[in-house]
Amino acid sequence: MRTVTVHSGNYQVLIGPGLLKEAGERIAQAVRGRRCAVVTDDRVGPLYAKALVSSLEAAGIRADVFSFPNGEQHKTLETFARAVAFFAERELTRADFAVALGGGVVGDLTGFAAACYMRGIDCVQVPTTLLAAVDSSVGGKCAVDLAAGKNLAGAFWQPSLVICDPSLLSTLPDAEFANGMAEVIKYGAGFDRKLFDMTLGNVRENPDPIIARCIKIKRDTIESDEFDRGERKKLNLGHTIGHAVEKCSGFSIPHGSAVSMGLYAIYKAYAAEEASVIKKALEANGLPVQIPYTADELCSAALSDKKRNGDTVSLVLPGPIGSCRIENVPVASLNGIIAEALS
Ligand code: NAD
Ligand code: GLY
Repeated sequence: MRTVTVHSGNYQVLIGPGLLKEAGERIAQAVRGRRCAVVTDDRVGPLYAKALVSSLEAAGIRADVFSFPNGEQHKTLETFARAVAFFAERELTRADFAVALGGGVVGDLTGFAAACYMRGIDCVQVPTTLLAAVDSSVGGKCAVDLAAGKNLAGAFWQPSLVICDPSLLSTLPDAEFANGMAEVIKYGAGFDRKLFDMTLGNVRENPDPIIARCIKIKRDTIESDEFDRGERKKLNLGHTIGHAVEKCSGFSIPHGSAVSMGLYAIYKAYAAEEASVIKKALEANGLPVQIPYTADELCSAALSDKKRNGDTVSLVLPGPIGSCRIENVPVASLNGIIAEALS
């Protein structure tokens, strides 16, 4: 088992096959409550909720399962309201906790519900997608989408523990594994050349070291900027255009695929000499790179994003593979930048 300690929030990320079976005892050591709500979706629940609940019960923790339909279109205030109402019906107290069993949608929604219920209860993340394992389960960003844009209602709420059992990824469809690889390629491209080179091999055969490397990069980044005011924005390499693609598609293009398109586009605009190697890594992992929207459509979607600060937008600009930087660009120049990225 690999352990990564995150000091912002002071919790551990445990990574190792078979950890789901031990989840109850690990969680019992990390939180004080003895009652919880396991929040999951209707794909993951039938696969893994029973094993998790058995493990929790064996550790003396009572667990009730709240399940909602899978998919980004359910990461909404309506599902959030149903989740917190469920916590109340099951009489969870401030000493109790929530467990997110699922991908980034479940993790983001559960974190936000835990942050708000009784002004905050503990939350344990059990990621079941590669994307959630390498990114969304760690760092405390949680949110739901509004009609006006992605993740517009949310909070920073650090988990009390993250239990990542990579054997749960065995049931993940190839396309979903690929979506997680978009974030892995982002970490490699923006922070670590060696990790980037590893994405050209078969990650699915042995994901554990890559998950641990990504989590360490994320940990190191957020420890210098927990609340996303500076350095942490670098984790959004490829995301300004990526989020705009998601929004233009009405969220039918998954987050990872949209990030893939956004990554290739931003390299074309700002680091053209690296764009072909980025494209190679993305395509080798089954990810799309061509954006099916115009610069005008993307620009108006991007302007409702959280990365806008008044008259400027924070863009993460790529450099040589393994590096990136943040630049505030005037809103008025965004359309031209996106047009360049699409050319
Ligand atoms: P997801 O949660 O929608 O999961 C993708 C699909 O895979 C779903 O249909 C789900 O039911 C299914 N699934 C999950 N685990 C499975 C398994 N083990 N076996 C079979 N099927 C499984 O999508 P995602 O890509 O995990 O997460 C995307 C979300 O994460 C977006 O909402 C994005 O905004 C968010 N995100 C958040 C952060 C953060 O820091 N909080 C970072 C990156 C992305
Ligand atoms: N996924 C970007 C962040 O956590 O800041």
